[in-house]
Amino acid sequence: MKNALYLLRWQMLSLLAILAACELAVEKAPEIAAPDLPGEFYNYSDVEMPPQMAGGFFNGGMVIDNNMLINFVDVPVGNTFEMSNITDAGATLGRVLFYDRQLSINNAVACGSCHRQEFAFADGQTGSPGFGGKMTPRNSMAIVNVALNNNLFWDSRLASLREMVIQPVQNHIEMGMESMDVLSSKLAKSDFYPPLFEAAFGSPEVNEDRIASALTQFLSAMITANSKFDHGQENGFVNFSELEKMGKALFFSERAMCSSCHSGANFSAPDGPGDPYGTPTLKGTANIGLDLVYKDNGKGEGQFKIPSLRNIALTAPYMHDGRFNTLEEVVEHYNSGIQAHRNLDPKFIGPDGNPKRLELNALEKSALVAFLKTLTDEELLRDIRFSDPFQR
Ligand code: HEC
Ligand code: HEC
Repeated sequence: MKNALYLLRWQMLSLLAILAACELAVEKAPEIAAPDLPGEFYNYSDVEMPPQMAGGFFNGGMVIDNNMLINFVDVPVGNTFEMSNITDAGATLGRVLFYDRQLSINNAVACGSCHRQEFAFADGQTGSPGFGGKMTPRNSMAIVNVALNNNLFWDSRLASLREMVIQPVQNHIEMGMESMDVLSSKLAKSDFYPPLFEAAFGSPEVNEDRIASALTQFLSAMITANSKFDHGQENGFVNFSELEKMGKALFFSERAMCSSCHSGANFSAPDGPGDPYGTPTLKGTANIGLDLVYKDNGKGEGQFKIPSLRNIALTAPYMHDGRFNTLEEVVEHYNSGIQAHRNLDPKFIGPDGNPKRLELNALEKSALVAFLKTLTDEELLRDIRFSDPFQR
């Protein structure tokens, strides 16, 4: 009798739980209106590697001062082959997927919630709220010339863009979908996806491969190379102020060493075959002495991806945990804040065995910041091809 009562109570509780869950699902899954797409697809497929990046990550033809520590090796890089797989219909589907909240379990967040065009596809926050309001432990990464990358994520844990793009969908904090199959059938039921899949792949079928391919096409078309710095390379930097020129000289100097890590046309890790950060143990990462003990060890030993500095003025806060709010704070870290972590990059260790102090004066610090601000590509922020097609 007692058992039967328990059972009854248990069943009633389960029923209540199920009812509550349904109500939650109904409440949290608003209808998604169809995206507003152009009559003719925008052009994504003609995406060209800008001349200063052509031939790979590091370009032999880059005309800059002799004293710049640039690696001039021509390497066919990471995911650049994806750029030749782009079709206008495929990237258009990718654009819709990127901004569609249906990619999360409760229709709460899209890729574009944490990667926002006005912030060069970062999001301006230290951590980012996922589908259930829980925060990501790491800072949302700016999506910057992502096809040029050999290594993805702050800990460089993945190399393939196609493998990477579907990870957030099933991530327990970010989008929380049970599986790519569940997502595929969810999308197949909507009115607007079957024709988009048909245009992109020849039939309306929705599956994991196609979702990954479309997202990859969209992201690979996002090439950013239209900054004041890029124009400066063409005109001998006559467009630079004295302060910016001073910052440029410092950035590429052996004293400040910035360009020995943030290198090449993408200002990111020299991590091609044979490059100093290209070894399997480093994979484009370094320890820059943020802490003596790291809460998050990244790739291990407090090593994190050496990120591109393109559009850096737009992507605050900075570092894997978003600890610095301004570029001034970042420069001050390199100037005087480096900690003697046991795995600190040898470059930062002085002859006395202690972390080096750059001893930059106030003018030099502001010059470095002024230079970093020349790496912003305003056109990317306004490019309608990369904007959110959903009217909200
Ligand atoms: C809840 C916020 C959030 C959502 C939603 C989200 N991301 Fe991210 N994204 C991040 C964070 C945080 C990282 C860094 C994660 C890490 O290093 O572990 C990241 C990293 C990335 C990177 C790596 C960039 C690089 O240079 O290594 C790419 C590309 C990316 N996301 C694309 C996407 C795509 C595509 C989607 C949608 C399918 C998506 N993100 C959804 C927060 C988010
Ligand atoms: C030994 C290699 C190395 C050197 C030298 C170096 N950096 Fe970095 N930089 C990194 C790594 C690694 C990170 C990410 C660290 C993290 O998040 O834990 C980083 C992060 C940054 C960031 C923040 C990027 C973001 O998206 O949050 C900026 C800005 C930056 N560096 C500027 C500079 C400047 C300016 C110099 C020269 C004064 C410099 N770096 C020298 C490796 C280096």
